[in-house]
Amino acid sequence: MSAGLLERFDRIIARKGYANRSEAIRDLVRDRLVGEEWERGDGEVVGTLTLIYDHDAQALLMKLMDLQHEMHARVISTLHVHLDAHHCLETMVLRGPADAVHETADKIISLKGVKHGKLTATSIGEFLT
Ligand code: NI
Repeated sequence: MSAGLLERFDRIIARKGYANRSEAIRDLVRDRLVGEEWERGDGEVVGTLTLIYDHDAQALLMKLMDLQHEMHARVISTLHVHLDAHHCLETMVLRGPADAVHETADKIISLKGVKHGKLTATSIGEFLT
């Protein structure tokens, strides 16, 4: 690796608070492994879906509830926060084969009235020693 590249890497990891280069590299490798896990369609994954939506969209509230019941095997937990008089934040923990989790998240994010939705991929952690 070139000295210039290493210098830039060291500056970034110092800013992020890593104690040493080895810790930072370990996290990069883990992140890459999690990415691979998510690309294998049938591998068991877990992720969090964060939504911002309009509390006044009554049809959406019903749809969201129906979908979560319908997909109860995929949506294993939900946290709801009333952000202000009109906005809600909801995070859902999704679990299952990667393809099914993506499909579930896409179905929810694309509902009319959802202002923003983002799926964050993580791992059940089996191989992250
Ligand atoms: Ni709310």
